[in-house]
Amino acid sequence: MGGVVRSLLQTATSVFLIFLCFVPAVTVLRGTVALSPAAPFFFPPALEFVHGRPRPPLSERSKHGTRFPCRPISHPRSSARTIRAPPMAAGLAAPHGGFSGWPSGGWCDVAHRAGAGRRRCAAWSRRGCVVARQQALPTSHLSHRHGRAGAARVFVLSDLHTDYEENMAWVRRMSSEEYKGDVLLVPGDVAETYKNFVTTMSMLRRRFRSVFFVPGNHDLWCRREGGIYLDSLGKLKALLDVCRDLGVETSPGIVDGLGIVPLYSWYHENFDKESDVIGFRIPSLDMVCKDFHACKWPQQLSSKDISLALYFDLMNEKNHDSIEEIKRQKCQIITFSHYVPRQELCPEKRMLFYPNLPKIIGSDLLEARLRSIHGIQGKASACHVFGHTHFCWDTVLDGIRYVQAPLSYPRERKRRMNGGEDWLPFCLYNRGLTDTLSPCWWSDYYRSNKREPDNTDLAPWVARFYKRVS
Ligand SMILES: [Fe+2]
Repeated sequence: MGGVVRSLLQTATSVFLIFLCFVPAVTVLRGTVALSPAAPFFFPPALEFVHGRPRPPLSERSKHGTRFPCRPISHPRSSARTIRAPPMAAGLAAPHGGFSGWPSGGWCDVAHRAGAGRRRCAAWSRRGCVVARQQALPTSHLSHRHGRAGAARVFVLSDLHTDYEENMAWVRRMSSEEYKGDVLLVPGDVAETYKNFVTTMSMLRRRFRSVFFVPGNHDLWCRREGGIYLDSLGKLKALLDVCRDLGVETSPGIVDGLGIVPLYSWYHENFDKESDVIGFRIPSLDMVCKDFHACKWPQQLSSKDISLALYFDLMNEKNHDSIEEIKRQKCQIITFSHYVPRQELCPEKRMLFYPNLPKIIGSDLLEARLRSIHGIQGKASACHVFGHTHFCWDTVLDGIRYVQAPLSYPRERKRRMNGGEDWLPFCLYNRGLTDTLSPCWWSDYYRSNKREPDNTDLAPWVARFYKRVS
């Protein structure tokens, strides 16, 4: 009898233990918000579940009271169900590649894994994400200087990188009719090889009434040109010559009362004014930046000091008279460059997989140059277009609207909400500047969140990456 009772007690205990194990698992599987008290036996206490999806612990989301931006929900079709696909909703994809000596061939690949992918982002987008959507421009920044009826529209398309066959095919697929009366601004990084550059610009020239171009770093690489150029300045001359032959504008001009001013520039290291991230093994610029090896410069010019930035800035002097004429006519003016004129147009270092990125993206001389055209205070009609970092951007800073709309690398494009397939080229001007700021992840983020240049605590996705590689 005693044996039977003991056996029954053992069975009851086993059933109870199984119940304790089973309930939390079922609860989680069904997507219940709170875990049962038994959950800590099976899951780390910090791991929360919302609607069946794991969320990162709160401490990761908000170390200094700052919320980090969520990644865009990557797939264009799935995102279209929950968020209306905006015309310009990329931007979390990292800056251009063109760098070596880093896992997967560049920090851009690494940055693409920011936030470890779409699963977390999808969860964040429910509660943690503070990214706003379409924002109206402040009335004070609306341009009322409308062009005449039927005037040219202005489109923007930077960083075409048509050495990638997918990108060349994208250009080939562009309508041959739709843009016949329009202007296209191409702020650099068309292609690495002269041959691809000419092919691309010829196609664009056939599609648009006018094409304006300034060179980017990739355009001046010499490594695949078979030694036919003495250096990158030799290649620059060849590109400007072929532009002239093709009818591509590389100097300021006026189209339907609209002044367009290409600005030549190069980056310099002390453009970066924000605190460095320390305590992690961040690769040197020399190791990471391919420009240092793929460009060739005469002895007196170098990427490692301000000499190249000065050289390219002085190239704008030859256009002084035509710029003054455009200013005299009081045209609506759009300036454009390849490089970044202000550090606020790049995410903070703690958000970047390569935190030293701001050292190789911009020029103070460029900002001074464009302010000399638009005015120190800016004005309603002032607009500057740039490229290089591959972060979509649309914002107003100190009276000037700054826009980036890159085609980027195929792998970057695929991670964007609408892939760039149907919103590019981006229409910036149609009888006046477009009167809403386009949704872009980072510029939206910085409209809602203050920049913290002295905060060097890495964003969770960057910290995880450095822990992994160190
Ligand atoms: Fe680029």
